[in-house]
Amino acid sequence: MSVKNILEKRRSVRHYDPSYKISSEIITSLVETASKSPNGNNIQATRYLIIDEPDLRNLILPIAFNQQQVIEASTLIVMLGDYQAFDKENIIRIHEEGFQAGYFDESLRDYLAHAAINYYKNKSTEDLKIELTRDVSLASMSLILLANEAGFDTITMSGYDSKKLKDALNISERYLDVMLIAIGKGTKAGHKTVRHNVNEIIYKNEII
Ligand SMILES: Cc1cc2nc3c(=O)[nH]c(=O)nc-3n(C[C@H](O)[C@H](O)[C@H](O)COP(=O)(O)O)c2cc1C
Repeated sequence: MSVKNILEKRRSVRHYDPSYKISSEIITSLVETASKSPNGNNIQATRYLIIDEPDLRNLILPIAFNQQQVIEASTLIVMLGDYQAFDKENIIRIHEEGFQAGYFDESLRDYLAHAAINYYKNKSTEDLKIELTRDVSLASMSLILLANEAGFDTITMSGYDSKKLKDALNISERYLDVMLIAIGKGTKAGHKTVRHNVNEIIYKNEII
């Protein structure tokens, strides 16, 4: 199916077959492809925390305001951004790997690495949070498209208590939780939703 078709047909699905299993190989393959998404300076800050322990799912249920997809969907992923990805060591390592792979020469390696280090150097925590949110969101959308292409249904969730979720799953301050994604076999189609007419959302050169 084309990307256009997936986007036209995809709905947020809120009811899943709890007996339907998706293998970890399939999830790994979806994540591997989603990781090819564009990301700032290629620092690769997105982390995918897969929750497959039923006890943990039950723990998350009330934290996510009893949204049944948390326990019914085959796969539940906490989409995280890793603040340590901004560390100089990580930036140097990634550019060294690109150099070793033969993708660029030494001077481009050094130029790109230093440009990235300088880009993040003076950013506030709030700025870095926005950087992580951008990167994780792009990877999330890729994952949703890939999962739908593979014949699964999905839903994105921000309807949960962030602090309680991090406490329940022992997620440290190193990580920013951006959203939850549930993937599985839907038992009830997601309801249709409207979108603004395209002419209401396109502006040219200025916005008022
Ligand atoms: C960041 C984000 C958070 C969302 N959180 C929830 C949620 O917690 N619960 C829910 O039922 N739907 C959630 N949704 C789904 C939206 O309600 C849904 O995408 C929107 O109504 C459009 O419907 P559609 O996805 O079926 O096209 C979320 C979507 C996004 C992008």
